[in-house]
Amino acid sequence: MEVKTKSLLDNMIGVGDMVLLEPLSEESFIENLRKRFDHNEIYTYIGSVVISVNPYKSMLIYTPERVEEYRNRNFYELSPHIYALADEAYRSLRDQDKDQCILITGESGAGKTEASKLVMSYVAAVCGKGQEVNKVKEQLLQSNPVLEAFGNAKTVRNDNSSRFGKYMDIEFDFKGDPLGGVISNYLLEKSRVVKQPRGERNFHIFYQLLSGASDDTLKKLKLDRDFSKYNYLSLDSAVVNGLDDATNFRTVRNAMQIVGFMEDEVQSVLELVAAVLKLGNIEFKPESRCNGTDESRVKDKNDLKEMCELLGIEQSVLERAFSYRTVEAKMEKVSTTLNVAQAYYARDALAKNLYSRLFSWIVNRINESIKAQAKTRHKVMGVLDIYGFEIFEDNSFEQFIINYCNEKLQQIFIELTLREEQEEYVREGIEWTNIEYFNNAIICDLIENHQNGILAMLDEECLRPGTVTDETFLDKLNMICAEHQHFESRLSKNSKFLNDHSLPHCCFRIQHYAGKVLYRVEGFVDKNNDLLYRDLSQAMYKANHTLIKHLFPEGNPAKVNLKRPPTAGFQFKASVGTLMRNLQTKNPNYIRCIKPNDKKAPHIFTESLVCHQVRYLGLMENVRVRRAGYAFRQAYEPCLERYKMLCKRTWPHWRGPAREGVEMLMADLQVPAEEFSYGRSKIFIRNPRTLFFLEERRRQCLQDLATLIQKIYRGWKCRTHFLLLKKSQIVVAAWYRRYAQQKKYEKIKSATTVVQSYTRGWQARKLLRELKHQKRCEEAVTTIAAYWHGTQARMELRRLKQEVRNKHAVTVIWAYWQGTKVRREYRKFFRANAGKKIYDFTIQRIMQKYFLGLKRTLPSMSPVDKNWPARPYVFLDGVHTELRRIFHLWRCKKYKSKFTEEKKAVYEEKLEASELFKDKKSLYPSSVSQPFKGDYLEISKNPKYQKLNSSFDEKVLLADVVNKINRANGKGTTRILLLTKKNVVLADQKTGQVKASVPLPDLTSVSVSTQNDGFFALRLKEGSASAVKGDFLLSSEHLIETITKLHHIGSTASDREQLNVDISDEFLVQFKQDKVCVKFIQVAPKNGNSVSCKRKNNRLLEVTVPASA
Ligand SMILES: Nc1ncnc2c1ncn2[C@@H]1O[C@H](COP(=O)(O)OP(=O)(O)OP(=O)(O)O)[C@@H](O)[C@H]1O
Ligand SMILES: [Mg+2]
Repeated sequence: MEVKTKSLLDNMIGVGDMVLLEPLSEESFIENLRKRFDHNEIYTYIGSVVISVNPYKSMLIYTPERVEEYRNRNFYELSPHIYALADEAYRSLRDQDKDQCILITGESGAGKTEASKLVMSYVAAVCGKGQEVNKVKEQLLQSNPVLEAFGNAKTVRNDNSSRFGKYMDIEFDFKGDPLGGVISNYLLEKSRVVKQPRGERNFHIFYQLLSGASDDTLKKLKLDRDFSKYNYLSLDSAVVNGLDDATNFRTVRNAMQIVGFMEDEVQSVLELVAAVLKLGNIEFKPESRCNGTDESRVKDKNDLKEMCELLGIEQSVLERAFSYRTVEAKMEKVSTTLNVAQAYYARDALAKNLYSRLFSWIVNRINESIKAQAKTRHKVMGVLDIYGFEIFEDNSFEQFIINYCNEKLQQIFIELTLREEQEEYVREGIEWTNIEYFNNAIICDLIENHQNGILAMLDEECLRPGTVTDETFLDKLNMICAEHQHFESRLSKNSKFLNDHSLPHCCFRIQHYAGKVLYRVEGFVDKNNDLLYRDLSQAMYKANHTLIKHLFPEGNPAKVNLKRPPTAGFQFKASVGTLMRNLQTKNPNYIRCIKPNDKKAPHIFTESLVCHQVRYLGLMENVRVRRAGYAFRQAYEPCLERYKMLCKRTWPHWRGPAREGVEMLMADLQVPAEEFSYGRSKIFIRNPRTLFFLEERRRQCLQDLATLIQKIYRGWKCRTHFLLLKKSQIVVAAWYRRYAQQKKYEKIKSATTVVQSYTRGWQARKLLRELKHQKRCEEAVTTIAAYWHGTQARMELRRLKQEVRNKHAVTVIWAYWQGTKVRREYRKFFRANAGKKIYDFTIQRIMQKYFLGLKRTLPSMSPVDKNWPARPYVFLDGVHTELRRIFHLWRCKKYKSKFTEEKKAVYEEKLEASELFKDKKSLYPSSVSQPFKGDYLEISKNPKYQKLNSSFDEKVLLADVVNKINRANGKGTTRILLLTKKNVVLADQKTGQVKASVPLPDLTSVSVSTQNDGFFALRLKEGSASAVKGDFLLSSEHLIETITKLHHIGSTASDREQLNVDISDEFLVQFKQDKVCVKFIQVAPKNGNSVSCKRKNNRLLEVTVPASA
């Protein structure tokens, strides 16, 4: 929301407008500036003039937001700012079609150039936009870096000091869009090219070129990067803090490109810059001529050569121009030689001219680019950035010229300010009261008067034939200006300065409007002449370099003009005249720049320095002029708006016209009538006191109002707060109630549910109980019925049973009765036989049961199965054992019946063996499991025994190897024992030869031991043929089988007796005639011992047999 009542007067630090300073004095003026400066308020107004104090630091007051803030606002609406002035100027130009000029003055380093850039940037920001417009804006803005590079230099006062005056006209179309511009430059300080004071530098471009150009470019320009190689470059301050020359060079090149310089033009410009540097390095030496005069010669021609190459000049031509000077007078040419000093003068003059002409060319070239294309009438805003008043210790021609310019500007300022004031009075219908002020027209006249002005006299001296020196010029001044009240000189006729030692003889002093300035005349004539020898300009013209040729048109021999070129003073006067005329047609806007200190440092406010500037800028004059009539004026509407609270009738609203409201206000406040006047649209207040009276009343009133507003606001706030609380309380209560009811409802609901569930449960249980009861009743009925029926039935049954029993009992009783009767009758018969019969029957029954049981539990049919059921009754013991035996026999028989004949024979033999040896001989048990094989030697098959076999007709029942025991030593000899049905044959084992053949009838018995040995003795019938050799004592592995077979043959033979088998551990054996006892001794078994037979003596053979385990 736009705050309409906002004013410059709000939140003021000091006073924002010096016009309101009360009391007005130099001290209060400076104090006000200082106070504001200390609070970072660098801008202060004097009416519409802006005083700007250089802050020497970057300030956050130039942001795009600030631009927007000041855009389209009234000048006094916001706190003082350069943007307010720029906006006012731009809006007057755009809306009221008034051409504007912004005059920026101040001493070196006060911030003029920065101010001009701020104005331009503001205008660029607020004016129209569009591709074309933006291009124009960009070109206008980019002209600054180019001009600054060539026209600015570091001085002791300012690191970026503008060494030329600049006036730039920016042209706008009817909409306020920029179309283009024109730049005018004034008096470039060209002497800086050849010489710089201590602590200062040459123009920036020289350093920028050497620092920032590429190696390639430097090579082309025949330059070296080292500053020290160039005489024209001061070295003590070649590098400036905060200035990056290399970067700036690129910026400048870029700006040149944007402004519209062609590549070859940029190259030419750089070549000229390089040529100036080279020129400075050309040195001269004297050479005596025969006529006794001294002539100069170039010392080292290398730089000259390179410079000539750069500019395309013939070296000899330039060399000659440095040695000779041709003077033409009335068709006559006279050539004089130059001495070394003159040669140096010529060199420097050439350098200065070259550079200043190049600078002017650049300005023109920029103008060419930025000039407005449209032919229609333009609105113009001029920005003048020109050197302010200069008062140094040593003031020369330049200061004179500059101060002259400032006098003119002051004059125009007074003229325009007063004119404006007057115009406003007329416009507002205020009676004009004469304003007293100092008119500096008299000083301007002293300088510029055509007949006897200082400049006119200087020109006269310069043009006068004969010896002309600075002294002759001063004499002339002393003569002509002596009477002038602003001119002071020691030697003037005016005797009052004769004893003024502050005024040296070679100086004159002028009382400028801003103070007295002492000028030293030395160099005035020379600088005014600004001579360049024609030979040099002709040499330049001959250059094969378009730009050089263009810069020195007077060197064209075809256009030889014997007339002297206009003097510098004359040129300056003319251009200042043009400028003044130009400015007079425009609405002026002033920016007065002030430098707060000499140290280029922020926060320092040197009062003496500021005081000095305030004086020579004529700021006090400025305020006085401004306050001469009425100090303050304000349109009725804002005035009423601002002060309406001071009167009850205008507060809070005034319905009538604003003027009447203000009149009412002033009458109510009883402001004396002479203190103000009513204009058509404004009220004019004569004295700031009145304004401050109003302001003070307003402040008090505002405080009261603030209290009132606070009171109302607090009341409103509390009420609102209370209402809000109340409303909130209702809402909270409602919510709480709702919540509580909800909770209660939920509780009741859940209680109801519980009660319900309990009731339902109870009802259900009750019903269930009833149902159960009913069911139980039904069941009970059924049960009772069942029981009843059961009881009935049982009773019936019992009854029937009873009946039956009764019947039975009757029957039994009857039977018993009958029995008893019968028994009684037959008792005598019954008792004699019944016991036996019952016994028999019982025994029969038991036997029957025993047999049937035995039948079921009979053991298996295996003859070796030892199982047999236990006997049930003791009295069956014998039967049971017998039956076991019978059963065993029966099953043996069954088993036997399954045998083949052979097997039967084998078993018979085995049986026989058992009968013979069981429990009689220890060897027997081991033989039971061995089958009786008989023919162990397989005699019929073995070819070895073929012959032996064939010697018998009968079948061989046994063929085995036996040992025949020798009675001599008890050792055995192996023999084959053959047994047939008739014979026992012993044959040699190896040969098969029959050793002995004993017919079986000759055998009487066989003796064996009871031990576990295979010894046996075949005892022969005494007197038989076989008995001749005696009995045989043999040992066989198959003793049991052999003896059994022998016995069997004997038992089956009908023709002889059965063979006896003697089993004894001692028996006699008949060896031929001797009987030898064979004794068997059982020994304890040892490892490896076997049956052995030893002869103990002639009658005893002892056989030791290990006891079987
Ligand atoms: N408004 C500003 N804000 C911040 N710094 C400023 C401002 N104005 C000036 N300066 C500082 O002061 C320096 C000097 O300013 P400027 O070059 O504008 O002075 P000038 O008046 O043009 O001097 P000269 O007459 O030598 O050209 C600037 O380089 C800058 O550092
Ligand atoms: Mg400047």
